[in-house]
Amino acid sequence: MSQDFAQHLRQAAPFIHAHQGRTCVAYLPGEAALREDFAAHLFDLALAHGLGLRLVLVLGARPQIQQRLEQAGIPERLHHNLRITDAATLDCVRQACGALRHEVEALLSTALARTPLGGRRVEVVSGNLVTARPTGIVDGVDMQHTGELRRIAADSIRTHLAQGRIVLLSCIGTSPTGESFNLRSEELAVAAAASLQADKLLLLSPREIPAGECTPAALDDYADIPEAERSLARRACDAGIGRVHLLPLDRPGVVLGELYTQAGGGLLVSAQVSDTIRPATIDDIAGLLGLIAPLEQQGVLVPRSREQLELDIEHFALMERDGAIIGCRALLPLPAPRCAELACLAVDPQWQRDGRAAALLAQAEQSARAAGIDQLYVLTTRAVHWFVEQGFVVSSPEALPASRQELYNWQRASQVLRKQLD
Ligand SMILES: CC(C)(COP(=O)(O)OP(=O)(O)OC[C@H]1O[C@@H](n2cnc3c(N)ncnc32)[C@H](O)[C@@H]1OP(=O)(O)O)[C@@H](O)C(=O)NCCC(=O)NCCS
Repeated sequence: MSQDFAQHLRQAAPFIHAHQGRTCVAYLPGEAALREDFAAHLFDLALAHGLGLRLVLVLGARPQIQQRLEQAGIPERLHHNLRITDAATLDCVRQACGALRHEVEALLSTALARTPLGGRRVEVVSGNLVTARPTGIVDGVDMQHTGELRRIAADSIRTHLAQGRIVLLSCIGTSPTGESFNLRSEELAVAAAASLQADKLLLLSPREIPAGECTPAALDDYADIPEAERSLARRACDAGIGRVHLLPLDRPGVVLGELYTQAGGGLLVSAQVSDTIRPATIDDIAGLLGLIAPLEQQGVLVPRSREQLELDIEHFALMERDGAIIGCRALLPLPAPRCAELACLAVDPQWQRDGRAAALLAQAEQSARAAGIDQLYVLTTRAVHWFVEQGFVVSSPEALPASRQELYNWQRASQVLRKQLD
């Protein structure tokens, strides 16, 4: 159990380091606050903040506003699908947003021992950080206190974030004339992320969202996600936000899964889809040869015939980026218990020096462990230091299992290295 935990924490470490000091805007729709697991989602976000993520929370309140309008007997008036906010409606908006803001602030103040935030003081700030202007008169209809975003106090928000505070934004913006305006909270989330040049935008959603990743253009293939949400994610990507994550509220722990695991938890929408590692198939031989043939010609990799590759293809995994094969590795069985040989580790020269080979090795080690292997051998002529830096120790051809020794090419004189997997 404790070993499992240590293993999970180790696997999360690269993500924890990668997100430290990065800015993330998270949009929580009003539906989130109606759920029993609202506090759990909020605590997960607070945990990410505790791990160094700079966090801006944008709170939607549509169902809460709706509820107050109904209680006050005020009919909802829409024009072009946009709420007309008269003075009475604005009161309901203020009450709904105010109540929600206080609920979130109270939850994030939870400091009792044995609670998810136990002992840690989380500071939350909100205030006049969003400037709005009236939408005005549309087709002869006065939208009254319905407003549009004019400016976000990005510098102030950055200062708060740098000082370790969580910033809370709601759907009310103020104007230099001292009035309040009702804004669309999801638009505010995108605008805040864009103006803060956030690294990430998390869009939590009350709907089903499949796990995976895609480009903004490929979002069209996800017909089950409502167009409004797809278009929001697309606009966020167009606004320059590198990674937009659509996360279903229904999936427990979705925020932590998305931020700190390889598998993720929701749908990552990114113009620059990240690398994936997958098993190779027979259809990949041509792409694989394109990657390794130049290295074979340089004598860096042992030449493998097409036939040999076909025989071994099930032992290969490939790194793919935007459909292109940019890296590979093979994990070949050895005729000795719990031993395997890592071979043919290569990364396309234009994608080197960014941790990709290390990621391929980590994935190979994970597969090896899963297959009950705890001794990994590698034979290399030019990358000895690289493997030593990855925890391999220099060994000798005599240490190889006997039948592999017979195949050892003494002329090539590769160095043999070994790694004990824990
Ligand atoms: C070795 C190889 C797989 C590394 O790929 P990569 O994605 O650049 O590796 P990483 O980003 O994880 O590591 C990069 C670091 O390793 C260093 N490195 C790269 N190749 C190295 C080598 N042959 N020997 C020693 N160090 C090496 C880089 O200088 C870099 O360190 P730095 O940024 O501190 O200077 C790649 O260079 C390659 O494809 N080489 C040809 C094939 C090969 O030799 N394979 C090994 C035999 S199976």
